[in-house]
Amino acid sequence: MMPAAESIIELARWFKAARNVVVLTGAGMSAQSGIPTFRDAHNGLWSRFDPEDLATERAYRQDKALVWGWYVWRMAMVRAAQPHAGHVALAELAAAKPGLLIVTQNVDDLHERAGAKDVVHLHGSLFASRCFACGRLHGDVYLPPEAAQKPLLRLMPPRCVHCGGHVRPGVVWFGETMPQLAWRKAERCAGECDLLIAVGTSALVHPAASLPDVARRRGAKVVEINPFRTPLSDQADLSLRVTAGEALCGLRAAMEA
Ligand code: OAD
Repeated sequence: MMPAAESIIELARWFKAARNVVVLTGAGMSAQSGIPTFRDAHNGLWSRFDPEDLATERAYRQDKALVWGWYVWRMAMVRAAQPHAGHVALAELAAAKPGLLIVTQNVDDLHERAGAKDVVHLHGSLFASRCFACGRLHGDVYLPPEAAQKPLLRLMPPRCVHCGGHVRPGVVWFGETMPQLAWRKAERCAGECDLLIAVGTSALVHPAASLPDVARRRGAKVVEINPFRTPLSDQADLSLRVTAGEALCGLRAAMEA
């Protein structure tokens, strides 16, 4: 494997030459802002909590207070977090390259708060709660001051102002389909890009995990940024074993050089 500095220079060469670029981000992108990933062995959400109890429609129907409280905890955690230097570097790279699209599996708003425009959210957003009954969007959610410290805070969801139904988080749960407009745009852009950079994703959850393959089959180069190996590592043209922050700040610096 190439040393990180050389890999970043190679990535910068491909980035400069590419007209269209897709940057696919996962939970590892937000990890340096203090947001836990899902599959980290110690701190990952799915190693501490059972998704069947918290991230399915059945779980919500069975125990709304448990599910809503858990998402309020996650909302409060994200509100208290700040985008890191890698988020800012990526937003600046995107601003300088009109053909760059950020596609994220993350349900936080750290890309946007770092200045990125037009981010495609494949798995919805923590901050787009909607009515479980009529589907209409709900406004701001009340986050109790202690919420960021209490993952298992029990809290009944608010009621919809239109129909009185209960409000649900605006994320995609297991067993649900992704927002179709977002998916179609991501799939189309992956098929048209010259370079796809996958940052901080375990590349295990489909269909998002199929986007690098869509790009590769159409002749694009695929680059992975992840401190650990994933199923994508062997297929990628370049796999950088560094953090999102290090790689994206390095790429921006190489572009300015
Ligand atoms: P995972 O938790 O599965 O994977 C996170 C990846 O980030 C791992 O491969 C880590 O090695 C890597 N990582 C950790 N720290 C990093 C850092 N500082 N820089 C770069 N990479 C780092 O998260 P996702 O792949 O995003 O779905 O998971 C995909 C989906 O599974 C999520 O969107 C979520 C979950 O169930 C929904 O909520 C619908």
